[in-house]
Amino acid sequence: MDRARRQAYLEALGVRAWVRRDRAASPEVVEPAEDLESGMVTPGGPPSAPAGGGFPADMLRAALRGDAPVAPIEAPAEMPRDEPGAVAAPQALSSGGAAGGDPSDLDWPALADMVAGCRACELHRSRTRTVFGTGAQDAELMIVGEAPGADEDRLGEPFVGRAGQLLGAMLHAVGLTRQQVYISNILKCRPPGNRNPSAEEAAACQGYLDRQIALVQPSLILSVGAISAHNLLATDLPVGKLRGRLHRHPRGVPVVVTYHPAYLLRRPEEKAKSWADLQQVARALRG
Ligand code: URA
Repeated sequence: MDRARRQAYLEALGVRAWVRRDRAASPEVVEPAEDLESGMVTPGGPPSAPAGGGFPADMLRAALRGDAPVAPIEAPAEMPRDEPGAVAAPQALSSGGAAGGDPSDLDWPALADMVAGCRACELHRSRTRTVFGTGAQDAELMIVGEAPGADEDRLGEPFVGRAGQLLGAMLHAVGLTRQQVYISNILKCRPPGNRNPSAEEAAACQGYLDRQIALVQPSLILSVGAISAHNLLATDLPVGKLRGRLHRHPRGVPVVVTYHPAYLLRRPEEKAKSWADLQQVARALRG
């Protein structure tokens, strides 16, 4: 995508592009918020902005090639799993949470059928449709959100409401389409009123997402929002502390955490950080 087009996308997204001072007369020249000398990405924007973290640009590429260690996240073992609001433990990779059995060996059609008929938690009573997942079943990049909202519940597809449109626009701006990635959620059913998923609901759904990850075999997971990150990584750190570092899912897949697009709609001033995260992901995928 040429710079002018990308600039137009960024403006549409409400992301203020950083134009190098020495090239300010050429408004089409947009620099990513990256310190090219050190290879460090500064997710918060240009070097003059507060950094707020960052991982070496090469680290992600190396992790995708499988020849570099990925830093473990902090203290997953200390999580208070049994307290109200605690996240589901992602270590239980094989158990299903499925009404009729264990999804861990299922192929795509059988898994989709099992999700469609799932009654493993109370959410089946209030859902209109289950929301399985969408996109390329062999995608390099898998995006994991939280749970369906009202639009997704009605249409049976993830990220089709306002937040989904923003996610689509951000993907487009880094040269990716929804069809090229695989998009799914921690929960396959909408929690009433869009409340946060309970630990029990997340645990009941975990086998489905885990099987999707095993089938897609993505090179990288982009985890959007706290609910997604907490459940994928068994941590309760805020997104602000999780982004800018490389994590690893129990299946071994590198994970990058960024803000949920619904949060970005409420806090547009944070869009530049997610934009930087996405650029980093897209650059790494391009090799
Ligand atoms: N938010 C999510 O996390 N997932 C969706 O599918 C829609 C909104």
